[in-house]
Amino acid sequence: MTDQAQALRTQLLNELTAGGHVRTDPWKTAAGTVPRHDFLRGGFFRHAGSSAWEPVLHDDPGWLEACYRDESLVTQIAGTILPPDIRGQILREPTSSSTLPSLVLRMLEDLQVEPGMRVLEIGTGTGYSTAVLATRLGDDLVTSIEYDPDVANRAAAALWGQDIHPTLVTGDGLHGHPDGGPYERIIATCGIKTVPTAWIEQTRPGGLILATIGGWLMASELARLTVHEDGTASGPLLGGQVSFMIARPQSPPPLGLLPDLSAGAERRTGIGADVLDDWTSRFIAQFAAPNAQRLTLNQDGRSEHVLIDVGSGAWAAVYEEGGHWVVRQDGPILLWDAVEEHLGRWHAAGKPAAEKATVTVRPEGQTLTW
Ligand SMILES: C[S@@+](CC[C@H](N)C(=O)[O-])C[C@H]1O[C@@H](n2cnc3c(N)ncnc32)[C@H](O)[C@@H]1O
Repeated sequence: MTDQAQALRTQLLNELTAGGHVRTDPWKTAAGTVPRHDFLRGGFFRHAGSSAWEPVLHDDPGWLEACYRDESLVTQIAGTILPPDIRGQILREPTSSSTLPSLVLRMLEDLQVEPGMRVLEIGTGTGYSTAVLATRLGDDLVTSIEYDPDVANRAAAALWGQDIHPTLVTGDGLHGHPDGGPYERIIATCGIKTVPTAWIEQTRPGGLILATIGGWLMASELARLTVHEDGTASGPLLGGQVSFMIARPQSPPPLGLLPDLSAGAERRTGIGADVLDDWTSRFIAQFAAPNAQRLTLNQDGRSEHVLIDVGSGAWAAVYEEGGHWVVRQDGPILLWDAVEEHLGRWHAAGKPAAEKATVTVRPEGQTLTW
């Protein structure tokens, strides 16, 4: 490694330590050993305004410095497109990245790992976080799963290039990897809508699952769940509005043909659609209506804020009229009733911060309580 790369790495680690993201020596030592730029040799995409991205290749000016800034670096777009594939800009959504180092290390600290623990990571990505984990724990105790075969192959090459050899699995991490378990810790570096039962089954009772619970209303929080003997798991949100790209099989389905949004029962509501502009309220609404997607329709001189659950056909349209909020809804689940009930409980509790909440996962579903 060049002196410049070493100096940049030391400077970044010092910043992460001063900022409280790296809190203990073992993680500082492990991160100090892993050269992030070797996991980004294929280049990355730099944000170029609104939803546009432009490539930065490894011989471009500024590539090395960017590898050691505390930033997420997008490495794949739209499921297949890599930095060398693009000249100019591309306007599509990122599908793989190297997570910002402060979050990688904060999560490793939050995972409360001790030597000798067996860890399953979901979302290998570039392999950087896998490398830090395996450097601390040893290859034999780390398994990492990546959904995308091309991403997985590049991560494997980068890890082997560093002589790091954890168990690498290509597949859907939502199913876990029972052959490598039971695990003392599971950590996900992609977002999940619901905590998979497989993760609970593959974690030793007393073990921890660290994952970002998100959804289609686009609000998410990091949760640390303890797995219990009875096959349930529960634990706190850790705060910080952590967000990750959602696990690929949990991407929202196409909206399809819109239902007839004029047909439902209408009434006033004390909870207006403006609650969906607030991160924590939106996160709670997402628990209430976990399969709902949001859209806004401007028609007849007013905006209707619509939640649609494609799977069940349920929908709710909320709009403001004469200084009041009105909801019209229909379907097998009354989506806005559920949102009102959840937000009502949160308001009654005095709107506590997200990190005061507990997530509980049972076979019948996951709940949020204060
Ligand atoms: C933010 S990136 C991971 C960052 C990575 N830990 C690093 O340090 O470079 C998220 C990764 O999760 C992967 N992913 C998404 N859904 C997945 C799933 N169901 N199972 C395994 N990996 C998944 C994506 O393909 C992507 O590479």
